[in-house]
Amino acid sequence: MRFVASFVAISVLLGTIAATAIPPRPDHRQAVIDADYSLASTIRDTLVANDVIGDVLDDFEPTYYLDINYPKSHETVLLGNDIPVEAVSKRPVFTFHSLERSSITTKNSTFTLVLTDPDAKSRDHPIWSEMCHWIVTNLTTPIPEPPTHLPKAKQAELEEYLPPSPPPKTGSHRYVFVLLEGDTSNLKAPSDRKHWGYEKPRHGVRDWAEENDLTVVGANFFFAQNEKQ
Ligand SMILES: *[C@@H]1O[C@H](CO)[C@@H](O)[C@H](O)[C@H]1NC(C)=O
Ligand SMILES: *[C@@H]1O[C@H](CO)[C@@H](O)[C@H](O)[C@H]1NC(C)=O
Repeated sequence: MRFVASFVAISVLLGTIAATAIPPRPDHRQAVIDADYSLASTIRDTLVANDVIGDVLDDFEPTYYLDINYPKSHETVLLGNDIPVEAVSKRPVFTFHSLERSSITTKNSTFTLVLTDPDAKSRDHPIWSEMCHWIVTNLTTPIPEPPTHLPKAKQAELEEYLPPSPPPKTGSHRYVFVLLEGDTSNLKAPSDRKHWGYEKPRHGVRDWAEENDLTVVGANFFFAQNEKQ
């Protein structure tokens, strides 16, 4: 079964977040904080409903929203929307921002963004899963807020962007972006893209994050499938 978070609900929440960039009136602040809190639960609920929490990640409280766009094709990753394969052939751009109530921190964190396919070769037969599609590291949140971030993507790529290319007749694949927080200074790429080098189906970013002491703080995903089904 497939659940897609209501596009309208997400757009409304994102609209509210966009509003945080405008200096808020004092009585506006609480509404913004509540919207962020409710976006965090929408993200988590959608990840659970689509077994991203379960198949890919352990349960977690999202503390960052990941905004990911493919500029050439004007596609945005929206918690389980369908995106045509040809629209994701080039690296996306992204930003992330804190959903925490006390986000005016001077936290000195570094982040890593990954893209993984838990449905290789198909969701029913994930014999190649997970497939590692991208790892970009040494990301930081600008201090002070607002935290919009455009990484020097190419320079910090541990694993080059491998465009999603689901094989014919393998149904819809979930392509999952995960934001990890933790020390990135000694990170190494996995030994292989397939199974992230762990040599067994269903192994991937969860193992890699644990091995490298990284914490999951955000996730977003889309569906893509081969035109031939
Ligand atoms: C942030 O971390 C870097 C490297 O670990 C360190 O040099 C710097 O002093 C830290 N800054 C703050 C504000 O803690
Ligand atoms: C990340 O930064 C560290 C220095 O803090 C550097 O040694 C390392 O090569 C960088 N990683 C990548 C993939 O650029």
